[in-house]
Formats: sequence, C-alpha cells, structure tokens
Amino acid sequence: MSSLRKRKETHDVFSPGKLGPVTLPNRLIKAATSEGRSPEGKVTQALIDFHRGFIEGGTGMTTLAFCAISPAGFAAPGEILMIRKNIPGLKKFTQAMHEAGGLASAQLGHAGPVASKQITGSQPIAPSRFINPTSFQICRPITRDEMTKVIEQFAEAAEVAADSGFDAIELHFGHLYLVSAFFSPWINKRKDEYGGSIENRTRFAKEILLAVKERIKDRLAIVIKLSMDDGVKGSIWLDESTETARILDETGAVDAFELTMGSSVYKQMYLFRGETDIDGMAQTQKGIFRLGVKLFGRRMLGEFPYKDLYMLEAARQFQPIVKHAQLILLGGINDYAHMEQAMEEGVSFIAMGRALLREPNILNKMKQDKQGRGLCIHCNKCMFTVYATTNCVFTKEYATSSKVPV
Ligand SMILES: Cc1cc2nc3c(=O)[nH]c(=O)nc-3n(C[C@H](O)[C@H](O)[C@H](O)COP(=O)(O)O)c2cc1C
Repeated sequence: MSSLRKRKETHDVFSPGKLGPVTLPNRLIKAATSEGRSPEGKVTQALIDFHRGFIEGGTGMTTLAFCAISPAGFAAPGEILMIRKNIPGLKKFTQAMHEAGGLASAQLGHAGPVASKQITGSQPIAPSRFINPTSFQICRPITRDEMTKVIEQFAEAAEVAADSGFDAIELHFGHLYLVSAFFSPWINKRKDEYGGSIENRTRFAKEILLAVKERIKDRLAIVIKLSMDDGVKGSIWLDESTETARILDETGAVDAFELTMGSSVYKQMYLFRGETDIDGMAQTQKGIFRLGVKLFGRRMLGEFPYKDLYMLEAARQFQPIVKHAQLILLGGINDYAHMEQAMEEGVSFIAMGRALLREPNILNKMKQDKQGRGLCIHCNKCMFTVYATTNCVFTKEYATSSKVPV
C-alpha cells in the first residue's frame, strides 16, 4: 500500500501533535456532529457535558458544531450562533474542555443550499438559482454585497472563537454547504469571476480564508473541512478538489485540511456509508412529506455499503498536492488498527464521528493494550437525531442534561 504522506517519522496515536500554534495531547479529533443542544443558539450545560465526555474519554480535541456565522446559515435546529453576544457561554465551553485536559475547535459555516426556511425564516441562498432535490426548496442566487457580508461574518465568527478561548476553528468548506456549493459546477452557474474555472469557483473560499487569517493572525489553528468528492454526477470530484486544495494551501494560511466527501444536498449516504435509515428520515417529516420519504427516500439518500477507512484512497490523492498544511483523515475509522494504519500512512491527525458518538471513551478504552474494536455498527440511526438531540441510539444518557443557556 502506498503511503499517503511520506514523512521521516510516523506518529503514535497517543503522541502529542502540533497543529499550527497549538498542540493537541494526542492525534484524535472528535469530528463535527451537529449537536442540537442549543435551542437559542447558545451554549447549554447539555452541550458542555456532551463534549466533556469525549475529552474525558481521551480525545485530544473536540469540535463544537455546527456554529453558524449568521442566523441565515443554520442547517438544523439547536445549532450555535457564533456571534459576540454568545461569548460568555462559549468561554464556559472552552474552559470546561481545557479543565478536562483537551482542546476545543469550532466548526464555522453557512449552510447555503442546505439551510431550510423553516429553521432560518429566510429563503436559502446558493451561488446560483438552485432547487434542492431533497428539500425541494428554491435557493436564490447570493448577491455580491451578500458575499462581502458573508466574508466579514466568517472573519467576525473566527474572532469570536479566538476571544472565547478556542484553540482551533474549522471552516466548513464541504458537503455542498454555501462555500463548497461555489466549488460545484452542478450548483455554481455564475458568469462572473466566481464561476467558470476551478480557480474562479475557489475564489470565494480563498477570500474567506484570507479574511479570517487577517483577523485572527496566529491566535488559533485554522482547519479547513474540504470535500474531495461530492458523490453527485456533475459536481466536484478529485481532479478539481485537489486543485482547490492546492490554491488554498498556497496561501500558507491553512494549518490542516480535514478531508471529507459527500453532500448534504443529495445522495447523503455517500458521506456516511452503511445502513440507509429510511424510517428514521421519515420520522423527521410530517404528512405528505413523510409518505414521499418512504416512497423516494432511498433514491434520494442513495445506498453505499460501509467500508473501513473509506476516505483513505481519495485522501491519498492530496499527498503530492498539499505542501504546507497537515492532513486529517476521516471516514470509517472505528478500530485501533484503523487509527494505526492512518498514522502509518503519515496523516497528522485522525477524526472520528460516529465511532465516538457510540463510545466517547474509545481512546481510553484502547490505551492500555493499544488494540481493540469500536462498537459502532454504522446503523446510521444517529443521523436523524440531529433534528432533536444528536446522540448514538445506544448512548441516550447524553440527551438528559439541561438545554437552558449557561
Ligand atoms: C449525527 C451526525 C451529525 C453530523 N453533523 C456534521 C456537521 O455538523 N458538520 C460536518 O461537517 N459534518 C457532520 N457530520 C459528518 C461527520 O463529521 C463525519 O464527516 C462523518 O460522520 C464520517 O465520519 P465517521 O465515519 O467517523 O462517522 C455529522 C455526522 C453525524 C453522524
């Protein structure tokens, strides 16, 4: 098997790892799993307890998600609004993670065509007029003035994160949320300098990145969650996403790319792999929409068998391209052997979503023997809990603490 990134040394999962200006106590990052514990967009005790569980369980850095840069950018109910007014609660969050011995990252983004009017109260926006084939919502094209505002909101949200004591921010440039929708020739039909070539389609992302860097300098690490392949015909694939990575990497402003795939717009199971839980999705809908999901849900969500380390082959394509930033591997990392393999491939960090929802203490469990299997079975029943309180259906205790702002 060829190496993802040839380095002089390969790292132990348990060894500390430098990420830009900060150092993680080990190589495990809790991936973003939109928590649904912030009914007023603010930090709650339930949110703190949920994340402290990962840090106490051995995870080096946890990712607070999803943090919308503006109310129009929400993707699901109960997400954080990353504005100055919410700093007191955000400070309590980072303090709790630091006291528990770990670091805190905030995932910043704007849902764009994934946002829903029922949640945001406004019509969703996209690079061009677009009908979301899952929600059937008609997105209107974002104007140039609004783009300038979004860039400013990203910079402001990053500064809010820095002022709240976060160690890192993760810019969400994936899953066909607003910024990655610009990368996609399927959604981006613009005729100006933000449409057409991949350089043009990357321009908005680059402007956001540079504005963020200019605002926060080296106060915290900058991670970009970047889609390698949307899993939708005519959208982004590796030939273009590697070019986007090259352009963003060349700025020198990125500390790490967390490489992801799939979209929240169509064929959502391409990101998750494993069981397609139609009944779970139907429960999130009412009346005629519930029937629609039962009839057409499988076609919309798609069916993709689960495979361990399913993003690794695509991630290898970024090895010769990314020269400055480190790489974070995600997707189907479930067992100690997977973590070890990722480390041997030369990635700097690994991120886990579902395996940690299932077992927040997975790293501590494996520390003693440096081996072991995760309990996650990729039933994907956690996917639809994002509409209430995100949790693994086997670990419901996390749903119990208070959702009143701290
Ligand atoms: C319940 C749930 C919620 C998620 N919410 C987010 C999110 O808010 N932002 C994001 O970038 N990815 C989100 N993801 C995707 C994960 O970060 C991760 O990319 C995906 O689960 C694949 O990693 P895994 O195989 O380790 O689970 C979510 C995943 C799950 C299961």
